[in-house]
Amino acid sequence: MMHSIQPWWQKGVVYQIYPRSFQDSNHDGIGDLQGIIQRLDYLAGLGVDAIWISPFYPSPMADFGYDVADYCGVHPLFGDLATFDRLVSEAHQRGLRIIVDYVPNHTSDQHPWFQESAASRDNPKRDWYIWRDARPDGSLPNNWGSVFGGPAWTRHPATGQFYLHQFLKEQPDLNWRNPQVHQAMFDVLRFWLQRGVDGFRMDVIGMILKDAELRDNPLNPQANPNLPENDIFGRQIHLYNEDQDDVHEIMRGIRQLMDEAGGRVAIGELWFPPKRWVRYYGQNNDELHLPFNFRLMEQPFTASTIRASVDEMEALLPAWAWPNYVLGNHDQPRLASRIGPAATRLAAMLLLTLRGTPTLYQGDELGMENGVIPPERIQDPQGLALGAERSRDVCRTPMQWDASPFAGFSTVEPWLPVSAGYVTQNVAALDADPKSILTLYRRLLQLRRASPALHGGSYAPLDTPEPVFAFIRDSESETCLVALNFSDQPASLSLTQTGRIVLSTHLDRREVRGRNLELRPYEGVILAL
Ligand code: GLC
Ligand code: CA
Repeated sequence: MMHSIQPWWQKGVVYQIYPRSFQDSNHDGIGDLQGIIQRLDYLAGLGVDAIWISPFYPSPMADFGYDVADYCGVHPLFGDLATFDRLVSEAHQRGLRIIVDYVPNHTSDQHPWFQESAASRDNPKRDWYIWRDARPDGSLPNNWGSVFGGPAWTRHPATGQFYLHQFLKEQPDLNWRNPQVHQAMFDVLRFWLQRGVDGFRMDVIGMILKDAELRDNPLNPQANPNLPENDIFGRQIHLYNEDQDDVHEIMRGIRQLMDEAGGRVAIGELWFPPKRWVRYYGQNNDELHLPFNFRLMEQPFTASTIRASVDEMEALLPAWAWPNYVLGNHDQPRLASRIGPAATRLAAMLLLTLRGTPTLYQGDELGMENGVIPPERIQDPQGLALGAERSRDVCRTPMQWDASPFAGFSTVEPWLPVSAGYVTQNVAALDADPKSILTLYRRLLQLRRASPALHGGSYAPLDTPEPVFAFIRDSESETCLVALNFSDQPASLSLTQTGRIVLSTHLDRREVRGRNLELRPYEGVILAL
């Protein structure tokens, strides 16, 4: 293992901040960049290495910032560029890196580029977006659906043509086949690199290129028959609207830009089946550093399925490629609600002991569950269009800092309601409890940072039957064994050697074990061998 030259984004842990919901500093019920600055000491103390901040750019907020009206500015709700610069320097002073969100597939319909493009058929920016006539029979240009429901095409009355939008109609897709768009969007990357950011998380990056002929997608015979009627996207095989072969050339260009800047990380949001997903690392270590690996979120939370998923990834990656794992983000139901509160400590140990860069989502370190949002307060356009059960608001409720009204997030009613459990489930309360889940996260993060085996060592699974998933992490200087009991019943594991327990998810044992290791329900332990 080559510890000394391991880059920061392999050794480190990424923490995702959803800025609307992290910390409000100016009493308007919406989180902001100054709020993040005020909480940097918390993040440094937690022991994460980088923060990824979801979009804070000028935006009409149709999709809460994923509809960008100016890629090189800050929405006044969140602050201004001077606040951002201060955030970067304050973070760097504490050894924290800053990763910003890059939204290349679409702009807001309020972006000046789209306003120009829509103005007339012969506008110089007409081709910056994807405009088509109706088919001769008057029907839509093709059969594609929007992720948020309905068709992916909306007619613009002034010019009589349709524009493509794979998300909301307020999020028109850019035409990356136009060299000027390519150039302008690379300039956006340069802008933030020059402001000192340490990397990018790239939104739906596999969608930016579409089939040049925009052919109809085939219908998926295996689609869930209970999808809402307007979920056209969910019923199709996405053969032509995403993951086209020539997107990899753009990935190589992005990587080149990162390499020239030096020390930065390119992370991509990619959902494809493993064989297609792995291509985004490049053929020769020349594309993204980390195509997000969401697979652990898609599996039932059992020892055998999680192990199979990890082993499949490990087998698929070229030797130079670095794995990564995600258990929660701003688009998914809360981790604690998906797997059940009893399993959250186990999930923490899993995520922070696997080989590869972990990404944590804000509030998961408190064990936060899905928020309960009254129907009249639903904000998420996906929930409004496809039904309350698809609303992403549940994972976007305010961060819970203390037991004061509004959880220390704000002094006024926040944009989404604070979750009921906040009085006990908050940073201040859990901080004071030496056995809390927050204390466990902090201990795991400390241990991972200090341990060459955990942040850089090899991975080898042990052949343990359900309900235990156990693996060895091995480096030149140390060897760890991680044993995780995925059940609500006790389990035991026979070892071939003795070891010292360095950490239990229950934070109450530190003993030397002989050949037999007893695990309590949902207990995980790390042993130094
Ligand atoms: C990504 C984002 C999601 C957003 C969508 C459109 O999936 O994570 O929040 O709504 O892209 O930009
Ligand atoms: Ca605010």
